[in-house]
Amino acid sequence: MKINLANIKKAKKLLINNECIAIPTETVYGLAGNAYSKIACKKIFKLKKRPKNNPLIVHYYNFKNLKADCILNDDFLKLYKKFCPGPITFVLDLKKNSKISNIVTNKKNSLAVRFPKHPVTRNLLKRLNFPLAAPSANLSSKISSVRSADVKEDFGKRIKFILEGGKSSIGLESTIIDLRKKPKVLRLGGLEISTIQKILKKKIFTNSNPKNISFPGQSYLHYSPGIPVKLNVKKYNDRDAFVLIRKKKENKSNYFFLSKRGDLREAAKNLYSTLRKIKNRKYKSISVKKIPNKGLGKTINDRLKRASKF
Ligand code: TXA
Ligand code: MG
Repeated sequence: MKINLANIKKAKKLLINNECIAIPTETVYGLAGNAYSKIACKKIFKLKKRPKNNPLIVHYYNFKNLKADCILNDDFLKLYKKFCPGPITFVLDLKKNSKISNIVTNKKNSLAVRFPKHPVTRNLLKRLNFPLAAPSANLSSKISSVRSADVKEDFGKRIKFILEGGKSSIGLESTIIDLRKKPKVLRLGGLEISTIQKILKKKIFTNSNPKNISFPGQSYLHYSPGIPVKLNVKKYNDRDAFVLIRKKKENKSNYFFLSKRGDLREAAKNLYSTLRKIKNRKYKSISVKKIPNKGLGKTINDRLKRASKF
């Protein structure tokens, strides 16, 4: 991806002035503001219509910058070394003297942090002397944005600037892992748990019991295209949009293929843009053929399951 320096400088200027802008990441686009600024962070919540009790992820250039705000531990350092920058978010203890605005954390003493890999956003982060709070750049509970056009569709003129970065290469949000005590995955994402497990060499807990959910972002309806989504459908009807993991010989106008050959990475990349396309074509409901529950297929199924709680 060619870096447009003028755009990055414009983004920097707006951020220094406490504005919110959209930034590209390899997972999904983010709605970013200065994480040390109360004014900027308040704007993010307002724009996104996000409940105040749902804290924000903060994006850093590297772990040296993070030291001022969080307590780093061995598990973090191992995973950082292997996977960062990349699609993984860590929940860590916040330092008492951290400058992170308490709007970001909802006054809690933990912080979710990430090091995005996208070259445009890395270039921007390197030039800033503050980290960026950035939830996914979509209206609260709706489908995330994987292209600048998606962000435009959701926010229109209400957003001051969208830093162009092409289509997100992964297309699903980061995997969130809480490393404050025993490692616990809070959200499935772009990095597979089995890959993380190989590096940590210890049991990783997953948050399968909804009663244990402590953050709203993981609990209620999410990723909703705004129309009913039916899962594991064998027989479709012609009125629904029919989503399949693999291209079929027989092709109808209401068929939407996530991948040519059933490749799960390609399917992940195309998932959100396909759901948006279907919604914009005014279908009344979506049927999805079974998607293998392995590798990134687990994350795809997680998102579809939440989207189906219409
Ligand atoms: O890939 C991603 O993670 C994207 C890109 C833009 O970085 N960001 C993203 O942010 O997905 P968002 O706000 O849509 O999802 C963040 C999730 C929310 O479910 C929130 O509840 C949770 O992270 N979260 C934030 N701070 C937390 C904390 N301290 N402890 C546990 N969960 C936290
Ligand atoms: Mg989100």
